[in-house]
Amino acid sequence: MERTLVLLKPDCVQKNHIGDVIKKITDTGFKIKALKMIRLTPASAGGFYDIHKERPFFNELLDYMTSGPCVPIALEKENAVEEFRKLIGTTDPQKADEGTIRKLYAKDTTQNIVHGSDSDENALKEISHFFTRKELLENYSDA
Ligand code: RTP
Ligand code: MG
Repeated sequence: MERTLVLLKPDCVQKNHIGDVIKKITDTGFKIKALKMIRLTPASAGGFYDIHKERPFFNELLDYMTSGPCVPIALEKENAVEEFRKLIGTTDPQKADEGTIRKLYAKDTTQNIVHGSDSDENALKEISHFFTRKELLENYSDA
């Protein structure tokens, strides 16, 4: 079983789509391993999207990601990273396949509802960006 990190972005929370998106996720066979609601600081959002720090859209991305609460979710499924990327659709929602989360709910290339990890290695890093081992209920019988 592989894992992936999903982040329901501030536009998803603000538009009341948390339930719709989680229903799509669980209907597609993903198991939820951990979930919470948080507000990203500029430092935390910058660390999370460090790979994009030289890109022209970086400041806009940080403003957006810190504009309201987010919901990080750790998911498990066979081939989780690839399966989830299929479910969310392309970065630009206008180019996304019918039925994908971004096609259904996203406004544009910046405000695109949801993040999904792009490799198994990044999934593990991103899961530990948001969740402690205790929050993942690993090796804690009383958690
Ligand atoms: P994500 O990392 O959030 O799952 O999105 P992604 O892989 O589909 O796209 P990526 O290239 O990693 O970009 C990360 C996020 O930055 C914002 N973005 N804005 N205005 C723009 O041209 C632009 N390009 C990217 C989006 O919020 C994108 O999801
Ligand atoms: Mg990405």
